[in-house]
Amino acid sequence: MKILFAASECVPFCKTGGLADVVGALAPMIAANGHEVGVILPLYSAIEEKYVSRMKHETDFEVELGWRRQYCGVESLRMDGVTWYFIDNKYYFGRSYMYGMGGDEYERFGFFCRAVLNALQILNLQPDIIHCNDWQTGMIPALLQIQYRHLPFYQPIRTVFTIHNLQYQGIFSIPQVQDVLGLGDSLFTADKLECCGNANYMKAGLVYADEITTVSPSYAEEIKTAYYGEGMDGLLRARQEHLTGIINGIDTQIWDPAHDRHIAKPYAENSLKGKAACKAALQKELGLEERPGTPLMVMISRLSSQKGVDLVDRVLTEIMEEDVQFAVLGMGEARYVDLFSWAEQRYPGRFSAHFRMDEALSHRMYAGADLFLMPSRFEPCGLSQMIALRYGTVPIVRETGGLRDTVLSYNEANGAGNGFSFFNYNAHDMLFTIRRALNYYGREPEIFRRLVARGMSGDYSWNHSARVYQDLYLSLKEK
Ligand code: GLC
Repeated sequence: MKILFAASECVPFCKTGGLADVVGALAPMIAANGHEVGVILPLYSAIEEKYVSRMKHETDFEVELGWRRQYCGVESLRMDGVTWYFIDNKYYFGRSYMYGMGGDEYERFGFFCRAVLNALQILNLQPDIIHCNDWQTGMIPALLQIQYRHLPFYQPIRTVFTIHNLQYQGIFSIPQVQDVLGLGDSLFTADKLECCGNANYMKAGLVYADEITTVSPSYAEEIKTAYYGEGMDGLLRARQEHLTGIINGIDTQIWDPAHDRHIAKPYAENSLKGKAACKAALQKELGLEERPGTPLMVMISRLSSQKGVDLVDRVLTEIMEEDVQFAVLGMGEARYVDLFSWAEQRYPGRFSAHFRMDEALSHRMYAGADLFLMPSRFEPCGLSQMIALRYGTVPIVRETGGLRDTVLSYNEANGAGNGFSFFNYNAHDMLFTIRRALNYYGREPEIFRRLVARGMSGDYSWNHSARVYQDLYLSLKEK
């Protein structure tokens, strides 16, 4: 099969979140299984020169956006068995940010979607499937259906749309979207592109894609309810025959404690001495007291309310009354930066906070910690809990979305489990669960070691899920 992924970010080129990791790992995996795979991305100015200098100029043409005609270059790069395509337009993508600013995202990503579709025919690239990801690519299935289907070249192409996070939908005013994409009034109704008086790019993908997926089975169920549905639950219920949850994997080569160049000492399930060395090195690096027997809990996360940081806020002093060290790495909302800066002053030698993206430090934290806290309000999949498990760092999570599908709370009756979890979005339920974990760490080291070992021996690779996607592509191709 020929598969083309369309995305707004992808490792190793550009990343703000888990979406980039997923596309960057899944595409090469599908290619390795014998399919012809391309990935198409915006050519942001943040993409490193070492990649840009190797790119080949495929073609250029003009894209019509209402009254505008915009340059569109297509550059390409062969790597890891995949052809990576980049849509070049300096006005739209030559900026210091990827998204969240500028006030013209409807135009930038409207341009991107149209450019992707136009490029196909010009490059004579006819994929069986375009696999779209999140709202930035939501207009691809819609435009394909509305404006391109009458052309024979586009008729056989099918679309898959993956929801990585339903909270971000790309909501814009209808006249603005009409101005760039030339869509008639009749398309802006509640069963198509309109939502609460606005145009909605995520909804466009959900309505027009042949198949919808999201990144865990639990989240696929949750988003059909009002609590998790972000206003899309009715639509998702209506399309549930075409909605599946497929759990993400992690890149098990990048995340491998036995061969990780970032950490103090590599280690494996049967030789945990290295993990103790990693802990000592991490305590030293973070300015924590160098005490091997004190449990070290970490959070590596965007500091947003999605991630449950408000629960931590509510009971931080109670957590710190325990014999525990706590370290945080991540960027985000100012109120949480204030909270953790305060904690660092209040608990010297026991609390450490770092407000940046630091891939190398994150490796050292996954390796050096004993416990990994991830109390998300909602979590489509979550990759960090899987990384923590693989590094023998026992996760404490809320039972939601992908966390529920990957972490099984320790069950004292039958000994099953690989972590600790709680169900209600409640700070004291979280506190109780943290205390429970600390108790096993301190008083039942044998049980704790078993949890560590079970986490480390789990399979978090893409092997299985890549096959599930391939089956889905095949079922669409044969339709
Ligand atoms: C988003 C979700 C996260 C998921 C990731 C990759 O960032 O919030 O849960 O793991 O996308 O699919």
